[in-house]
Amino acid sequence: MPSTILITGANRGIGLELVRRLKGRGDRVIGTARNPGKAKELAALADEVVELDVTDRKQIARLSKSVGRDGLDVLINNAGVASRRTGKLETLDEDEFEEVFRVNALAPMLVTRALLPALRAGRRKIVMNISSQLASIANNTGGSSYAYRASKSALNQLNRCLHNELSPEGFVCLAVHPGWVRTDMGGPEAHLSVEESVAGLLGVLDAAGPRTSGGFWNYDGTALPW
Ligand SMILES: NC(=O)c1ccc[n+]([C@@H]2O[C@H](COP(=O)([O-])OP(=O)(O)OC[C@H]3O[C@@H](n4cnc5c(N)ncnc54)[C@H](OP(=O)(O)O)[C@@H]3O)[C@@H](O)[C@H]2O)c1
Repeated sequence: MPSTILITGANRGIGLELVRRLKGRGDRVIGTARNPGKAKELAALADEVVELDVTDRKQIARLSKSVGRDGLDVLINNAGVASRRTGKLETLDEDEFEEVFRVNALAPMLVTRALLPALRAGRRKIVMNISSQLASIANNTGGSSYAYRASKSALNQLNRCLHNELSPEGFVCLAVHPGWVRTDMGGPEAHLSVEESVAGLLGVLDAAGPRTSGGFWNYDGTALPW
């Protein structure tokens, strides 16, 4: 049975490929973009394009109306930003730090909260938070990217909070690393194409259940260290 799936930051990169693959499987896909007028590829693929800057609280409040009466089966919090200027303590940029936390950690919670009634009305009740292996404290031997690493670690913690609160209602809440992917964020040297990454992410989505909820997963389905 087709699912209704909402993906944030769906106009390019991993988000756009998720839309393409999920539409190809017959799902109903709502993609959000900061500038829908410029999101031509997304408009050609998605059932609906909704304007959403994930830091805009008014736009978040309007989101649930876009989903309709049948509810939402899956929310993929994909929109994210890197921290380019905070490589070292002495170059830490306060404004960038706050922005990265707002987009990568706070926004997924605000979007999930706004869509909670729709997710409760949906069949699958899956929240997939696109994290990063850079969130792993155990694996942090290289330093750098202070704000990005910390924001994704916070997202992982928040995902576990969501799991603890919502799994008794049948929710499945996942934090998933998409691999190092050739997008604007990942750069041309990255290991994976968007097609390879998204094929893996869909495997993690399809395997989602009580046993995977609350975990931190690699795109290939293996567990990542906190
Ligand atoms: N690529 C990698 O190697 C890699 C590795 C680990 C994790 N990730 C994570 O994977 C996710 C997708 O990354 P990507 O590689 O596809 O990056 P990307 O190509 O740079 O795309 C980022 C997406 O997020 C959107 N976005 C950024 N700030 C936003 C905001 N304030 N409101 C709404 N949308 C916003 C962008 O919209 P605009 O076009 O409007 O800017 C764009 O659609 C991110 O969460 C990222 O942290 C990526």
